[in-house]
Formats: sequence, structure tokens, C-alpha cells
Amino acid sequence: MPGFFITGTDTGVGKTRVAAALLQAYGRLGYRCVGMKPVAAGASLQDGVWRNEDVELLRQAGNVQASGECLNPYLFRAAIAPHIAAEHKGVNIELARIRAAYTHLTQLAEVVVVEGAGGLLVPLSPGRDMGDLAVALGLPLVLVVGMRLGCLNHALLTWEAIQARNLRLAGWVANRLDPSMAAYEENLATLVRRLPVPLLAELPHQAGMDAASMARLFAPKRLYAMLRQG
Ligand SMILES: Nc1ncnc2c1ncn2[C@@H]1O[C@H](COP(=O)(O)OP(=O)(O)O)[C@@H](O)[C@H]1O
Ligand SMILES: [Mg+2]
Repeated sequence: MPGFFITGTDTGVGKTRVAAALLQAYGRLGYRCVGMKPVAAGASLQDGVWRNEDVELLRQAGNVQASGECLNPYLFRAAIAPHIAAEHKGVNIELARIRAAYTHLTQLAEVVVVEGAGGLLVPLSPGRDMGDLAVALGLPLVLVVGMRLGCLNHALLTWEAIQARNLRLAGWVANRLDPSMAAYEENLATLVRRLPVPLLAELPHQAGMDAASMARLFAPKRLYAMLRQG
């Protein structure tokens, strides 16, 4: 089990931040690590090349070089739902192609951190969604909860979906998206009680926090345990 699949309660809740933090954290422990964004929607032209911000952040956070095709098999320019972007382009998002890219990355690195797009049930193609991709890759999940009003419902719905797919949740991260969330501690305690997996880290609200600083919020003991449990 050389990896994790990072999912979240929504889009924009901190998946990329957590993926980058985990890459840095395992890097600090001496592991060769690489990030993967199988499907990215939203790109801008930089020096004549279409680039996605998540892919670039993950590339920077890892310590192993790999081809763009492996790091990001599917890139769509429009920042819209992946299956719609794919349909517009006449592309079929194939789990087998993503799996081949992932398998290649597992030969280069000891830890592969895969970031989903949006939440767990985001569609990828007719009849397939992000959860199916996590199953196809055989990876345990890390759930990023964007701590704001409404997150309890989103987190618990995601937990139900994880169980329905027989996926394994390695742990969850509380990301303090809304710095003025009312009753933050009680919300946190509710999720600690209801999610029967470890709270891996609590990330503070801090714009521009770098991945190395976030990495220090994950206890090494926990990081080793996550790898052992596979
Ligand atoms: N704890 C936080 N404090 C401040 N800004 C945050 C925090 N978490 C996320 N953000 C910001 O919110 C946006 C979405 O975060 P990101 O990690 O890209 O989410 P996702 O990958 O789930 O879409 C980014 O601009 C990020 O910098
Ligand atoms: Mg992201």
C-alpha cells in the first residue's frame, strides 16, 4: 500500500493543502514521495503550457520527478465538473489509464498521494465517480473536512459513501476554513465522536501557510501508523 487518496467534504476545502502537507511530512521522514492529480479541471496558460494549480503544488511538494502524463493523466481547461468537461472535449475518462499512471508512480516513489477532484461522488464518466477511482486504485482515504457551517452533514454523508463502497478511511483532517465558525470545538468534538478513525491533524486558518509548516502538524507516529495499516 504505497499511498493515500485524499477526498474532501466539497471542492475548495483544503484537499490540495493536505495532500501537499502529507507529501512534505513523508518526505521529512525520508520517504520518496510523489503527488498525483488524476483528473484536473481548470488550467491557465503559463509560458505556452496549460497548467493546473493543484498539479503544480503537488509537483512542488513531492521529492520525486515524474512525467506530466503520470502526475496528471487528465487535464481540462475549463473549471467545471470533470465529466462535463470531458464530454465537451469528447474524452472518456478511463480508470484503467489512471491506474496505469498510478502503478508507474508506485515504481518511482514509496508514498503516492492522490488528490481527488471535488468530493467523493463527483462523476467522472457515465456510471463512474471519484469513489470508483479510489476503489480502482485500492487506496485508503484521507477525508479533509472544511470546518464551516454545514460540514457535519457533508462529513457524515461522505463517511456513509465510504462505507457503502467498502473503502477504508485512514483518518480525517479538520481544516479550519472559516476562522469565525461558531461552536468550532463542539463541531470538532461531534466529528471526533462520530468518525471512528483518527483525527490526523487540525489545520489552522492561515492564508498562504506553506506545506512544510502544515506537515509539522502531523505526528510522525501517526504517519508511520498510516503506512503500516495500508
Ligand atoms: N486553513 C486554511 N486557511 C486559509 N486558507 C485556506 C485554508 N484551507 C484552504 N484555504 C484556501 O482555500 C482554497 C482551497 O484550498 P485547496 O487546498 O485548494 O482546496 P481543494 O483542493 O479541496 O479544492 C485555497 O485558496 C486555499 O489556500
Ligand atoms: Mg485541490
